[in-house]
Amino acid sequence: MNINYIHKIAAGIALTVVFSSCVKNENSFGYEYMPDMYRSPAQEAYVDYGEVRSWKSNDSIKNTQSAKLPPMGTIPFQGANADPAYSMPYKRLPSKAMIVTHSAMSLEYSDEDYDASALDVNPMRMFESNVEHGKQLYTTFCDHCHGEKGAGDGIIAEKGLIVPPSNAFTKAEGQMFYSITYGKGDMGSHASQLNQKERWQVISYIKSMSGGVVIPDALKTLEMEKVTDIIGTGSTVELLPETLAGH
Ligand code: HEC
Repeated sequence: MNINYIHKIAAGIALTVVFSSCVKNENSFGYEYMPDMYRSPAQEAYVDYGEVRSWKSNDSIKNTQSAKLPPMGTIPFQGANADPAYSMPYKRLPSKAMIVTHSAMSLEYSDEDYDASALDVNPMRMFESNVEHGKQLYTTFCDHCHGEKGAGDGIIAEKGLIVPPSNAFTKAEGQMFYSITYGKGDMGSHASQLNQKERWQVISYIKSMSGGVVIPDALKTLEMEKVTDIIGTGSTVELLPETLAGH
């Protein structure tokens, strides 16, 4: 065998040994050249990248969706001026009982989330336009069971088919949102009829039925403190200490 040829083989083996011994971890792929070529950064649609799992958050990009531009020809879920916060997936999980009662299929369930939802506060302010829209939705989707004033005496209840309790609307507003979203007992889920914003608007209307103070739309641009000066603090709905603009 030609001596040159033996040298080449020896050099090849030496190089292989040198490169393969660079990384100690046997599970490692070793050095990667141009890793972006085969390991592209994952961007998932409709994920809140501000919330890096529940224990960590990046407030500067919170409530911004990863999917900025929908594919051509798709229909916007909430219109061009929608607040993306309301398009985020609902953070509360259905309980296991929902599999049987409402066929709610989910990758995860939580039997504690209904109780926990009592702490959720309605992010919509009680502006008259919100309440008015909530009233229209209530008349369309809820009245026939719950009745005009929410006493559980709608036309379906009168026939004795499904009778909602007369105190259904005394629940915490977060729990109302949960039950409207997933359904409860004989009441089906209304998540496909009402988007999240509309569910809160219905709840605003329900609150106004039991004396919640409705704020005139003309006050939308005022700071919260000034609005409280004008309407007083008698509202049954907790008003959030932010400016009201945009709601
Ligand atoms: C088919 C009749 C029916 C319709 C339509 C209906 N509900 Fe109900 N609702 C019920 C019944 C029955 C219950 C009692 C459920 C239970 O506790 O088992 C109930 C309970 C509730 C509760 C109390 C939930 C809780 O956590 O205890 C709220 C709030 C509520 N409904 C709101 C609404 C709103 C808002 C709408 C319209 C978007 C609506 N419902 C439409 C029948 C209905």
